Amino acid sequence: MNNALKAGKSLLNLSDNLFLWAQSQSKHLTPVFSKIDLFDIIIHVKQALSNSAKTKNISIVSDIEKGTYVHIDSHMITTVIRNLVNNAIKFTPKNGTIKIESSDKIQTINVYISDTGVGIKDDIANKLFKLDYKHSTQGTNHEIGSGMGLKLCREFVEKNNGKIWIVTKEGTQGSTFAFSMPKFYL
Ligand SMILES: Nc1ncnc2c1ncn2[C@@H]1O[C@H](COP(=O)(O)OP(=O)(O)OP(=O)(O)O)[C@@H](O)[C@H]1O
Ligand SMILES: [Mg+2]
Repeated sequence: MNNALKAGKSLLNLSDNLFLWAQSQSKHLTPVFSKIDLFDIIIHVKQALSNSAKTKNISIVSDIEKGTYVHIDSHMITTVIRNLVNNAIKFTPKNGTIKIESSDKIQTINVYISDTGVGIKDDIANKLFKLDYKHSTQGTNHEIGSGMGLKLCREFVEKNNGKIWIVTKEGTQGSTFAFSMPKFYL
């Protein structure tokens, strides 16, 4: 086996272990709720992922306005958005666009992250959040993963009293992931 293959293989083993570890650990985390401006989280995530977006010349646009207050654990929801935007970058070819949009519902703010990437088949889409199902494919630049990101997202979103789902739109290219979280009331 050549060195690159060996390195790849041991990384996969490592992420298998990480998968099991994270699964066992995340159950014990308790969210710390406070009033958070979603706008600040988006700025933070965009900055954290700007290099990988730049490598593929992918633009990230957001319509989330300053003063979009939610009642959440800031670290957990930052992790969720970072994972979803990271996936969007990973599964989108060069020169694509990622949109982050929000919608103001009665009790929740819903966030939609859509990309112009490879898309997801329907039969796989509804299984990706299930703990007993493992599915991981390489990104458009052969980026590898552990298949853990979305399961962690679900765990964190649910701890924050929200839901996560995939939006399927016939005839459109790419994928849209969405999740809800409680609004902040005075
Ligand atoms: N935006 C997306 N576009 C297309 N496929 C996606 C997208 N997001 C996730 N997927 C598919 O779902 C799989 C699981 O995603 P998930 O984030 O759970 O794991 P991963 O990205 O493979 O690894 P990890 O996040 O642990 O590094 C991906 O490997 C890919 O096949
Ligand atoms: Mg991922």
